[in-house]
Amino acid sequence: MSVMRTKSVEQSISETDDPEFALKKSLSWLDLTVFGIGVIIGAGIFTFTGKAAQAYAGPAITISFVVAAVVCGLAALCYAEFASTVPVSGSAYTFSYASLGEIVAWIIGWDLLLELALGAGVVSQGWSSYANLLLNDLGIHLPSALAPLTKDNPGGQFNLLAFLLVAVLTALVAWGIKESMRVNLVLVAIKLFIVLFVIVAGIAYIKTANYTPFVPPAKAGEGASGLTQPLIQAMFGFTPSTYGLGGIFAGAGIVFFAYIGFDVVATTAEEAKNPQRDLPIGIIASLVICTILYVAVAFVITGMVKYDKIDPDAALATAFKDVGKSAYATVISCGAVAGLTTVVMTLIIGATRVLFAMCRDRLLPAGLGRTNPRTGTPIRITVLVGAIVAFIAGYLGNHVDLEEMVNIGTLAAFTLVSLAVPILRRRRPDIQRAFRVPLSPWLPGFAALASLYLMLNLSVETWIRFLVWMALGFVIYFAYSYRNSRLARRGHDTEPEPARVAGA
Ligand code: ALA
Repeated sequence: MSVMRTKSVEQSISETDDPEFALKKSLSWLDLTVFGIGVIIGAGIFTFTGKAAQAYAGPAITISFVVAAVVCGLAALCYAEFASTVPVSGSAYTFSYASLGEIVAWIIGWDLLLELALGAGVVSQGWSSYANLLLNDLGIHLPSALAPLTKDNPGGQFNLLAFLLVAVLTALVAWGIKESMRVNLVLVAIKLFIVLFVIVAGIAYIKTANYTPFVPPAKAGEGASGLTQPLIQAMFGFTPSTYGLGGIFAGAGIVFFAYIGFDVVATTAEEAKNPQRDLPIGIIASLVICTILYVAVAFVITGMVKYDKIDPDAALATAFKDVGKSAYATVISCGAVAGLTTVVMTLIIGATRVLFAMCRDRLLPAGLGRTNPRTGTPIRITVLVGAIVAFIAGYLGNHVDLEEMVNIGTLAAFTLVSLAVPILRRRRPDIQRAFRVPLSPWLPGFAALASLYLMLNLSVETWIRFLVWMALGFVIYFAYSYRNSRLARRGHDTEPEPARVAGA
């Protein structure tokens, strides 16, 4: 039997009725939009805006945000079509199982685990830096070995605050999705308030002179080389430039991180009350809202501070300190702590849902994926994911740079999902699609190319780590999943079943 076997859409949907693996259907479109905003606005806007403006794009970082939003928007349309067609837990993993075949689904599932679990670890480390600042303001100082590793604290060994955050959030997620959503709602409200606060309070301090030059003239980059140079440079011998047009795209590559998360909305498909209608709304609305806020924040910050003076670590808070508003800076730090909490929690939920879908398909041991009848959540998986993320947050993230790995895993999934849209349309034109990407196959094709282009701008080192991760995935697939897969056991292959899934 082929590794390209696909699972029919009807089969995917009907399996969600299996009571041992059933998730509670409790989320509305508003919950999904809040969930999306909760995971999108995070470390990206609070830290990478400053870094990218200062080092790559200058005031034109505003344009970088628009460029990254376009790439994500194209992918979001593809995700929305899939989520409205195959409303089953597991997001891109499930979509590709229904269109591109089991091996591709496995690859995507494996990628998504990279994006979500590593992302949660990376963001929890960002959270701990802000939390530590606030503790210091209160006169509480952790021993150096347990405090976050920063340039001021090179002796950081174990990131205690990040570890504790992950432990608490894992418990919340295991307790139940609706309860977690309630916590999420409060934290998202605080975060939105802080972002709007930065925009409104900052406008008064804009100096228009700071916008000139808006696109600083290009100059040859510091010359990253060897393993740290972008793959595209190693392949074609390009020299990366700082500022100028190239800087806008390099900046877009960095602030891409700020948009990661809208795709996670699709991982909760089975918990939505009306997934075909509500998922496209949740995915697209959260992306549009965040894009508007990001562009506004970037515009205000680069107007408040000359681009080469922007703080690369805590741009938002420092911009207010610089204009003599330290109290505002503290408020912003509090907002960052609340804001990054929701990101970590949502990424953990996403990772559990992808693993859950893989267990249900028996690509991983089924016993792991059973839902607890009392909470309606897959508790074993949640604890496993929590333990892995806690290890990354407490220990691994202190020793290895992981951000680019998050980006490459996400972009690989975007590329494959975009390619899958026209393929599923051709294979299954009969299925009802509540949302359709316009101009298929051109628009999905362009979405795939745009994602691939950003991937090529990531470093050679990141590509090597990514390929090692993929190789490990293949070993597990051929040693375990290929034989134990539910499809393999049933012995039926790619032929679509005639039934329609309208209203499923
Ligand atoms: N988009 C999320 C963030 O900015 C991952 O932290």
